[in-house]
Amino acid sequence: MEFHVSLIDRKDLSGEIYRQLRRAILEGRIRPGESVPPSRELARRLSVARSTVTVAYDRLAGEGFLSSRVGAGTFVNEHFAPSSDNTKRREADGPLQPRHIWDSIPLVRAPATPAQFDLRSGRPDVLLFPHDRWRRLVSRQLRREIGREGVFGDPPGHRGLREAIARHIAVARGVEASLNDVTVVSGTQQALDVVARTLLEPGDQVAVEDPGYWPIKWLFESLGVRVNGVPVDEQGLIVEALPRHAKLIFVTPSHQHPLGVSMSLSRRRALLTWAEQNHCAIVEDDYDSEFRYESRPIEPLKTLDKSGRVVYVGSFSKTMLPTLRMGFLVTPPSISAAIRKAKQVADWHSSLPLQMALARFIDDGGFARHIRKMRSIYRVRHSLVVSGLNKQFADHLQLIPSNVGLHIAAFAHHASVDEINAIAHRASEAGVEVHTLSRFSVQMPPKAGLVLGYGAIPAERIEEGLRRLRLCFIT
Ligand SMILES: Cc1ncc(COP(=O)(O)O)c(C=O)c1O
Repeated sequence: MEFHVSLIDRKDLSGEIYRQLRRAILEGRIRPGESVPPSRELARRLSVARSTVTVAYDRLAGEGFLSSRVGAGTFVNEHFAPSSDNTKRREADGPLQPRHIWDSIPLVRAPATPAQFDLRSGRPDVLLFPHDRWRRLVSRQLRREIGREGVFGDPPGHRGLREAIARHIAVARGVEASLNDVTVVSGTQQALDVVARTLLEPGDQVAVEDPGYWPIKWLFESLGVRVNGVPVDEQGLIVEALPRHAKLIFVTPSHQHPLGVSMSLSRRRALLTWAEQNHCAIVEDDYDSEFRYESRPIEPLKTLDKSGRVVYVGSFSKTMLPTLRMGFLVTPPSISAAIRKAKQVADWHSSLPLQMALARFIDDGGFARHIRKMRSIYRVRHSLVVSGLNKQFADHLQLIPSNVGLHIAAFAHHASVDEINAIAHRASEAGVEVHTLSRFSVQMPPKAGLVLGYGAIPAERIEEGLRRLRLCFIT
């Protein structure tokens, strides 16, 4: 295809190629499955260095827009098919147009088919969820709701659920929370939305781990907040690399997403000191540490925080179901009242029947039982994946030690980002779905590696899944 890039009077050439190509994909001018020009050819056409083009391509690959197949070229990924919304809007030029920022935010679609060997990160085993019990709890609460004639609930959430959450995190994580500081939200994404509404203004800067949890980048950018990626090493986020003017830092200290390292105690202390000296808020995302297989947990930032700067966020997406959209915040008392108002402004309150059913599930011990059961199932899967990687992939991958959560990450010894993308593509054709590490790059050049989830794959499929993946490394 003939892709036209205009670089007249532009300074950031690589950034410009990246932006124009991304827009072309989002608007459907380059379609899923189509190839983009080889970097050498595009560089020649534009009279720029080849590295100017490859940096742009790497960034797009890191965000999941492109993937390369060795010997075949670089292609637009299927899951970034232009949404019908994008296409319709362009077709019907009406008087109302969204702000430009929405052109650069892709609509992520739910994957269409379950994978034969699902090694994607971040997925719990939804088939082992106690659906019958849950259905009974929800229908009982719905009947009660009809009795109450459907009046609205309180913005911070159902009192019984907030009490149950406070007890759960006191036992599971040692976090002491007063009822007034707990707010129920629709998952981590809304937790961040409510915090951003409460603390940030357009033009403010935030710091996020890089590689990191990219969906929140779109959230901040949609609010006009500038996002800075901060590198991570084996002890977690590198505090010295934080931008001086950051007003908020988003971290996953218990289990860095996606690398899997736990932030060391000294790093946690350094981060808290930095935040204090720079008048900055910290959001601690503790998304999956209920599943810990060895070693004692390090104390959450929230319990180490003496100055009242840490917002603690928890989610029921891993312990229950991601589709429930349930999570919670524990805020410092100085912002709790504003947080409730922000939740009210956002959506008044989360679904009351679901909150009441969940409160009941926690109170009667069903939740703790489910976590215990899943922990022992995930422990087996974790150890099968770790030993399989150590035995079969030692020549290709360097495992990053981790014994928490539902995924494990590994750096490639020799393969480039493009080659790893090609391997993931071949794996997909062989029925094995994995995530590449480059997918989680926020701003920095993507790293070559894989992130392997074991939440959704039954133990008896792991060996065959890894065997097929191993074959994809041999070209
Ligand atoms: C780092 C991280 N935080 C939080 C979540 C959960 O997000 P939510 O509660 O919005 O489903 C995930 C899910 O994959 C995650 O990877």
